[in-house]
Amino acid sequence: MKTVNFIHMEDGTAEEYAFTANLFTEHVQEHLADQLMTTLRTMAGPTFGYQVDRFEHSLQSATRALRNGESDEMVVAALLHDVADPIAPLNHSAVAADILKPYVSDRTEWVIRHHGVFQGYYYFHHLGGDQNARELFREHQWFDDCAAFCHEYDQNCFDPAYDNLALEDFAPLVREVLGRPSRFSLTELA
Ligand SMILES: [Fe+2]
Ligand SMILES: [Fe+2]
Repeated sequence: MKTVNFIHMEDGTAEEYAFTANLFTEHVQEHLADQLMTTLRTMAGPTFGYQVDRFEHSLQSATRALRNGESDEMVVAALLHDVADPIAPLNHSAVAADILKPYVSDRTEWVIRHHGVFQGYYYFHHLGGDQNARELFREHQWFDDCAAFCHEYDQNCFDPAYDNLALEDFAPLVREVLGRPSRFSLTELA
């Protein structure tokens, strides 16, 4: 089979969908890591007045996580925690969590999903918001994990003098984590 016969999905067969799903999965495993690293690189440049750009911020987050002995998936999650900024600037945490969800634990996904509101502890009050918005999640089993993530790998990652590792240093780790078989089937997350 080179292509399916159908032009309306309602006419497809199980064999045809197995064929396309395999090609899709192979493509994802080969290219997703590089796609996301390319997106990270596009964040170099604009600083919005901070002392580092978002690419440097991401490298610093991952470098600190690595040097602190975090797991491979947490280092990759740190590297990619803001990767959705260019395409979902107002809800980047949730989009990054959804990108990572098939490849990381529930805990890591939860930490990334909520890092934006937990990060607010450090500045929401300066913008007229509630710095304690994270308290909504106080009883959650991963509250402390998310608070620690923001304290150690996010709010402190705006230092232009910190010696960040390069993106290339993280590439093998990103390819390993994002190249894992998805924890969910194609029909579970669509
Ligand atoms: Fe963020
Ligand atoms: Fe961040």
